[in-house]
Amino acid sequence: MAEKSLSFPNGFLWGAATSSYQIEGGIENDWSKWEKSASRIRDLKRRGLHPTDFQSGKAANSWEMMEEDIECLKKINATAYRFSIEWARVEPQEGKFDEAVLKKYTHFVKRLQEEGIEPFVTLWHWPVPLWLHKKGGWAKPMIVDYFKKYSERIVRTMPDVTFWITLNEPNIFVGDSFLTGKWPPQKKNLFAYYRVLCHMVCAHRKVYDMIKNINSQTQIGIASPNIYFEAAGGFINRLLKAGADWWWNHWFLDRIKDKQDFIGLNFYFHNLINYGFTKNKNERVSDFGWELYPKGMYYVLKDLEKRYHKPIYITENGLADEKDTQRAWYIMEILKNIHRALSEGIDVRGYMHWSLIDNFEWAEGFTKKFGLFEVDRKTFERRPRSSVKVFAEIAKHNAL
Ligand code: BGC
Repeated sequence: MAEKSLSFPNGFLWGAATSSYQIEGGIENDWSKWEKSASRIRDLKRRGLHPTDFQSGKAANSWEMMEEDIECLKKINATAYRFSIEWARVEPQEGKFDEAVLKKYTHFVKRLQEEGIEPFVTLWHWPVPLWLHKKGGWAKPMIVDYFKKYSERIVRTMPDVTFWITLNEPNIFVGDSFLTGKWPPQKKNLFAYYRVLCHMVCAHRKVYDMIKNINSQTQIGIASPNIYFEAAGGFINRLLKAGADWWWNHWFLDRIKDKQDFIGLNFYFHNLINYGFTKNKNERVSDFGWELYPKGMYYVLKDLEKRYHKPIYITENGLADEKDTQRAWYIMEILKNIHRALSEGIDVRGYMHWSLIDNFEWAEGFTKKFGLFEVDRKTFERRPRSSVKVFAEIAKHNAL
C-alpha cells in the first residue's frame, strides 16, 4: 500500500458519534409527544409529507442492536465512540430510576471498553422526560437540580467512564426550541431563550463539580457547535463577525471555561458575513443544502486554541449524503485541516464522525442520511457505505 503522508499523533482517537433519541427507538419523551401531536401532524400533511417519516418510533433500533453497532465501530477501526444516555429511559418518573436500563447502559460501556473503544458519554442530547416537560423543563430553574440528580446517578453507576459530555450544543437547542419555535416546546421568547441558556450554564457548572468530587480523574466538557464566521470585507463586516463570534462561539464556553477539561467541537458550518447576510459560495453542499467548507475546521480550531488552551476533541462532524458521493472527500479534507492545526501545535486529540449509522434527524425525520452505515428502515440491517473503507484505513494507519 502507498505510504501515508500525513500522520496523526500517537493515541489520536478515531470514531463516530450518535445520540440516544436518534438511534435507540422506543422512547417516550417531550419530542415523541410533539411528533405525535395533532398540530405537528397537520403541519406535515399540509406540506405533503408523511407524519410517520417524522416520528422517531423504532429509530435505528439500537436499543435492541447494541452489539450490531459495536460491530460497525469495529469495521471502521474505531478507538472512540460518543453516544448519549436517554434521560426519559433512566428516570421515567420523577426520582424513580430504572435499574435495568442503567444496567444495560453500563454493560454497553463495558463492551466498548473490552473492544478497545473509549466511551464519550453525553448526559443530555436534547429531549427531556415527560414528567419534567410538564414541570416546564429547561425553562424552569429547578431543572438544574433535577439534571444534577439524574447525572449523579449515572456517574456513580458507571465509575469506569473517563470522558463525560454534560450538554450537547446548548445554543442550537435553545435557539430552535425557545427562540425560533421550530422544535418542542416551540417557544418564541427572547427572555426565555436567555434564561434557558443561563440554566444550562449553571447545570453544567454544578454537574462538573459533582463528577469531579466522585472521580477527579474524569475529563469533562460540552459539545459546542462552533461556526467559522468570516467577514466579507470592510469594517462593518468585521464588527459583525466579532459580534457573531462573541455570542455564538464564545458566550457559553466563556462561562464554563474554569469548569471544562476539554472542548468538544461539533463542526458543521461556515458563514461568510456580508452586512447581516450570508454570502457563502456554496461550491459544494450536502443533501441538507449546508455548505461543505472543510477549511472552516482549521480556523475554528485556531480560535478555540487561542482563547481556551484546552485539549480539543472533535465530538461531531459530518454531512447528509445519502448516495455517499461526497463523504470520503469531505472526511479527507476535514482531516487535512485538522492536521494543519496539529502541525501548528494545536492540541486536537480525536475525531468522531457524525454519524456512525443513519438516524432520526430531528425535525427532518428520516429524510437526511448522515451514516457511515446505511440503515434499512424495515429490517434495521446496517450496510456500510463505501466511505467506511476510507475511514477504516485512516483509523487503522493513524494517517491520511
Ligand atoms: C446534533 C445532531 C444532529 C447533527 C446533524 C448536530 O447539531 O448534535 O444531533 O443530528 O447536528 O444535524
